[in-house]
Amino acid sequence: MADFFPDAKSKIKKDGKVHKAAPDATNVRTFKVYRYDPDSEANPHFDKFEVDLDTCGPMVLDALIKMKSEQDPSLTFRRSCREGICGSCSMNIDGRNGLACTTAIEDHKGDIQITPLPHMDVIKDLVPDFTHFYAQYASIQPWLQTVTPPPSGKERLQSPEDRAKLDGLYECILCACCSTSCPSYWWNSDKFLGPAILLQAYRWLADSRDEMTGERLDELEDPFRLYRCHTIMNCANVCPKGLNPARAIAEVKKMVVERQI
Ligand code: SF4
Ligand code: F3S
Ligand code: FES
Repeated sequence: MADFFPDAKSKIKKDGKVHKAAPDATNVRTFKVYRYDPDSEANPHFDKFEVDLDTCGPMVLDALIKMKSEQDPSLTFRRSCREGICGSCSMNIDGRNGLACTTAIEDHKGDIQITPLPHMDVIKDLVPDFTHFYAQYASIQPWLQTVTPPPSGKERLQSPEDRAKLDGLYECILCACCSTSCPSYWWNSDKFLGPAILLQAYRWLADSRDEMTGERLDELEDPFRLYRCHTIMNCANVCPKGLNPARAIAEVKKMVVERQI
């Protein structure tokens, strides 16, 4: 598996607490979990949690919930749906961004290291600050925009063929696994929209019912917002929903060029 956070093991030298498993546990796996408490003077560090896999569900999120329930209630992470739909449990698991609820423990050998999504400010433990990411999402105006009234005063219909053009786009759960695995986004996230937001932008450009295509392209045609994508492809490699933001970005670039011809 690709390692998008290769320095994680060397960045933080000092280990914190070790939370031991019960003495009679026989199927124990150790998780090294990034800890940061903004209310403490302490530097970020890793705590070790020994988890008895015989009394734990199969996914990394199950292990985190068990750690929080049984070993340290202060351990902080986001989760909601536990089935890969809400996007809130995105984090970096053994060097790869993914969803804790759809990542099987058995797919990882040895100790499992868990850190927040890379290159985002951390609010606490595994919770990154999505404020800037959501502001970038809002900037692309992610809703249907029209100027003409709907035909016959009812809903705007779409052919099955046009609807199919949204496949591979509408499934995005805005987990940010792709954007936070993109080196261009790491270094230019103040101005580059990143793969998640650009895929969402294309979702509206590709919608046959939307009538703001020109305005949307005007907003995107910029050396940073769009063109900081250098086809590195980490985004497509890492998406837990199997989407391809790189292809969506290529389609946006194609639309920009085509309208100039
Ligand atoms: Fe997450 Fe995939 Fe959407 Fe990126 S494209 S935000 S990785 S679901
Ligand atoms: Fe980044 Fe994906 Fe482009 S990883 S550089 S957005 S192809
Ligand atoms: Fe919803 Fe993991 S808890 S995607």
